[in-house]
Amino acid sequence: MAKKIPLQKLSRILKPAQISQDPQDLDIYGRDWTDLYQPHPSAILFPETTKQVQGIVQWALKNKVALVPSGGRTGLSAGAFALHGEVVVSLAKMNKVLHFDATEPSVQVQAGVITENLQNFAASKGFYYPVDFASRGSSQIGGNIATNAGGIKVLRYGMTRQWVTGLQVVTGNGDILDLNKGLIKNASGYDLRHLFIGSEGTLGIITEATIALCPPPRDLQVVVLGLSSLEMIMTVFEKIRDVAQLTAYEMWTDAAQRCSREQLGYADPFKQSMPFYVLFEYEKQGPENDEKILDLIERLSSQGVIQDAVLSQNSQQDRAFWKLREDLTEATSHRPCYKNDVSVRVSQVPQFLVTIDQMIKKDYPDFSVVWFGHIGDGNLHINILQPESMDVKTFLKRCHGVDKALFKAIEDFGGSISAEHGVGLVKKPYLKHSRSKAEISAMKALKAIFDPGGILNPGKIF
Ligand code: MLT
Ligand code: ZN
Repeated sequence: MAKKIPLQKLSRILKPAQISQDPQDLDIYGRDWTDLYQPHPSAILFPETTKQVQGIVQWALKNKVALVPSGGRTGLSAGAFALHGEVVVSLAKMNKVLHFDATEPSVQVQAGVITENLQNFAASKGFYYPVDFASRGSSQIGGNIATNAGGIKVLRYGMTRQWVTGLQVVTGNGDILDLNKGLIKNASGYDLRHLFIGSEGTLGIITEATIALCPPPRDLQVVVLGLSSLEMIMTVFEKIRDVAQLTAYEMWTDAAQRCSREQLGYADPFKQSMPFYVLFEYEKQGPENDEKILDLIERLSSQGVIQDAVLSQNSQQDRAFWKLREDLTEATSHRPCYKNDVSVRVSQVPQFLVTIDQMIKKDYPDFSVVWFGHIGDGNLHINILQPESMDVKTFLKRCHGVDKALFKAIEDFGGSISAEHGVGLVKKPYLKHSRSKAEISAMKALKAIFDPGGILNPGKIF
């Protein structure tokens, strides 16, 4: 890549205010939420139109400049880090809702629209955008699509991929592709849209998307359970799922709860702390169904499967219970945290949890390991906190020791090294545990087609 970046040649495409080399901007836009690296971008660009993005890509291709596409920078695998003088392309100024269609229903947006604004827009029209997570206030739809973001309602509504009916991208060739164009049915060959979803900015820069909406759910009921053993988490899941229309089934451990209490001052939902916590949310179907669910909770409590249970009484309490789970990223951010975001098939979860638990207890007794996750989707977040007495280099070395055993176990279970956070830089060395050689070479071949100059987010994923 060229050492001197010819930014002056961008003056035909961008206004001076759309190019920044301000040290504060370089620090803010050169990174995401991963706290294990130091950013070193050369400049930050703020295009406002797809044509400008195309101009930037053509400029980068001609001048051999590496580009890092950047959304709300809430990623956790360092997929949006500029470490080696790359130029960051922030989509933040492309934040308009372009078109709403009540018949479909769908909404066409620019890539920089913030998730919560999209959710609020849908609600203002009487509809619902169900993909949801704690970073809703700053994550952007383009970034969500680039990482195929999941979150807390996947159990019921699926991942971001499921809601994208149209996608506009600028490829590394500088081509503007309008993919699937909002169609529900389209059997006209390869669906390239799905290649770009989850490609982490390595194939193209997402500039616009058409997003399907759905009717809002009925009233939701939030319940928090205290459990005494890991094994019970999935036993309870299977039973609850039979009677309740679940929208979420989440878990966290006592170590996680302790972080919430100590770092954020959140009260424990029970009189005494529990080894494991489950939050489930269901769509209310009427008094008879509510009764059935209560009966089940009582029965499981009398059998000793559930230690304690608390049902939210109002929307304020709903929020407070959800914060116990959703704010765990913040609650564990007081120290550098090595995050694992792994998944196995739901039927494998009980065995997987026991295997991982035994492995971590045996090999890393001195580590503070905080578990939480979307366990109803087979997705577990294993967060390793840097001990105060350990420097970051030693810490990472020890974590990589954990990785080897963990990812070997994932491979044995046929699971994924990244369920929803992406590969980025952090999980790149471990891709081979989830993807075969043939799959990785096919991915590289696709990269060469859409980004022959290797200018788009180089060094990420593989
Ligand atoms: C979550 O489930 O809270 C998010 O994936 C973020 C995280 O794992 O820290
Ligand atoms: Zn998550």
